[in-house]
Amino acid sequence: MIGTNLISICSMKPSPRMLISCKNSSSFLARCHPTTPRAMSNNLSSTNNIHYPLRMLGFARIMNGNHRAFRLPSSRYFSHLTSRPQIFRSPAATRINGDVTTATVNELGLKPRKSSVNDKKNLEIEKVYIKTDNGIDEKQLVVEKSADKESELEAGGEEDNARSENKVSEGVAAPIINNNGEEETDVEREAWKLLQEALVTYCDTPVGTVAANDSSEESLNYDQVFIRDFIPSALAFLLKGENEIVKNFLLHTLQLQSWEKTVDCYSPGQGLMPASFKVKTMQVDEEKVEEVLDPDFGESAIGRVAPVDSGLWWIILLRAYGKLTGDYSLQERVDVQTGLEMILNLCLTDGFDMFPSLLVTDGSCMIDRRMGIHGHPLEIQALFYSALRSAREMVKVDDGSKNLVREINNRLSALSFHIREYYWLDMKKMNEIYRYKTEEYSLDATNKFNIYPEQIPLWLMDWVPQEGGYLIGNLQPAHMDFRFFMLGNLWSIVSSLGTPKQNKSILNLIEAKWDDLVGHMPLKICYPALESEEWRIITGSDPKNTPWSYHNGGSWPTLLWQFTLACIKMGRTELAEDAVALAEKRLPVDSWPEYYDTRTGKFIGKQARLYQTWTLAGFLASKMFLKNPETAAMLCWEEDLEILETCACALSKSGRAKCSRDAAKSQILV
Ligand code: GLC
Repeated sequence: MIGTNLISICSMKPSPRMLISCKNSSSFLARCHPTTPRAMSNNLSSTNNIHYPLRMLGFARIMNGNHRAFRLPSSRYFSHLTSRPQIFRSPAATRINGDVTTATVNELGLKPRKSSVNDKKNLEIEKVYIKTDNGIDEKQLVVEKSADKESELEAGGEEDNARSENKVSEGVAAPIINNNGEEETDVEREAWKLLQEALVTYCDTPVGTVAANDSSEESLNYDQVFIRDFIPSALAFLLKGENEIVKNFLLHTLQLQSWEKTVDCYSPGQGLMPASFKVKTMQVDEEKVEEVLDPDFGESAIGRVAPVDSGLWWIILLRAYGKLTGDYSLQERVDVQTGLEMILNLCLTDGFDMFPSLLVTDGSCMIDRRMGIHGHPLEIQALFYSALRSAREMVKVDDGSKNLVREINNRLSALSFHIREYYWLDMKKMNEIYRYKTEEYSLDATNKFNIYPEQIPLWLMDWVPQEGGYLIGNLQPAHMDFRFFMLGNLWSIVSSLGTPKQNKSILNLIEAKWDDLVGHMPLKICYPALESEEWRIITGSDPKNTPWSYHNGGSWPTLLWQFTLACIKMGRTELAEDAVALAEKRLPVDSWPEYYDTRTGKFIGKQARLYQTWTLAGFLASKMFLKNPETAAMLCWEEDLEILETCACALSKSGRAKCSRDAAKSQILV
């Protein structure tokens, strides 16, 4: 069969540098945005306020021998947007006398909080800022910090890093009850205040949070809303019942998804989500200024890295929104279903690859610069798996989507087998690799990827504890990246990409290697660091990624919320509590840095931003998960036997050849 690609033509085709404005959002929204015929017919029949112009064209592709067509309605609607032009004030730019000024959550249109005695207490130690037509007015209620707070911050110095010595209460002021009836420490209240100051508004509506609010450093792109950085903010807001901002974020980023994007005259695939976006102001005429959204798909990013993880995070957040709010109508919306399918189609597109894992370039995720993680990095595979599991729950099943649903199921099954079987490493597997024969040419080779045993690094031999194990960082022909990557391992637990036994072993390893992986600040992004020649060759002598700094073995407090989720899921809450206690003691004293340096995370990172939003939001989300573990459980996935049983290859039925999964000498699937 021949695949047809009908190229879309939109009569309202904005130039790549034209931006989305809330003023003229309806006309600006008349853009190319593929959708399925199914979605489209739903659109046409079921909505009154969506007007799809007649100029709809489409493209089609072949998928597993089935013809799947995509059509392009060129309009979308965002009924929640107001069309009032507003001058946007970036939080970083609105400092008065050294104090960050911001509108309160209520002023920004978030759900009003009930007042209570404790609210009054909070107000007594805060300034309140009122947004007016003339800018932001400061109303100072009581300026001084409480005495408790000062002494708490002073008490939070360096301590020994042994797990048993990090008890929750040391150095942290006694909690008081907040208006939800929950205990809240001073540190949490400070984090909430900072999170609100990080809010970004677009046309008077909060749509995200800046990456960092640090006026002492050049902002670069840290004044933008990053998709991945916003996830812990979103969870913190959702857990607090502030749902609107998350909904706004999901809808606005969806709008950016179909934006025309080019890097040196080449357009990446439809469905790509930006790494970040910025709210900018545009002078319309002499008097009028309008706000516009300006996405970055990597075309401005350092190293021009494609944010593969953005779309995956978007899907994961969409599911979390439904789970935590009980509002499933958002994911059922036609435009949302369309966006979801676009991301999935982009990820599920066939290429030259032989593996079910996603093939990506270096720096396509949280580690967004050269670190030798091109190929099939675990982080992307774990997020991909989580996104597929999320999508499986959300894609509306009907005739139009049944092929997609089948593809999702097949991929989940193949991916879980691949990762469980080939990425897993413990003492037993290491011994197997150590004795591998090479140059095996056959269907049922033991050493399928032709790994030379000499690749096993010296540090690893003594590092893996008897009772623990982990998923390696990457797997390619003749190449295993044996580094331990935290995010990928944590998401393998959360999504049940690993077997129950593997997931347990990963946490055992983190506990056994606490000094290496947690040390003075949770948690190491990867272990160990690349040093000397390896650093020179693999990072290209990157001065930011020097050994034990930043992405190269630095410690990232934002990983705390994902660790907490994993611990709660596996019934190891005490590990998360210890890590959170460490963070609570240090983060406010150190002004909430982006990352820490040195082998044990002793120093604030060399070039770390302060008041990094995902640091403080991750801390808040962790605290809230610990207070209400059932919310964490809602975001995790249990083992799904249906996924394990599905096998797409059908070889077992034909009898001509053996299914490689049946033939696998698996030690781990039990
Ligand atoms: C750095 C991090 C990236 C993050 C961004 C904004 O580039 O590597 O993961 O999204 O900063 O905080």
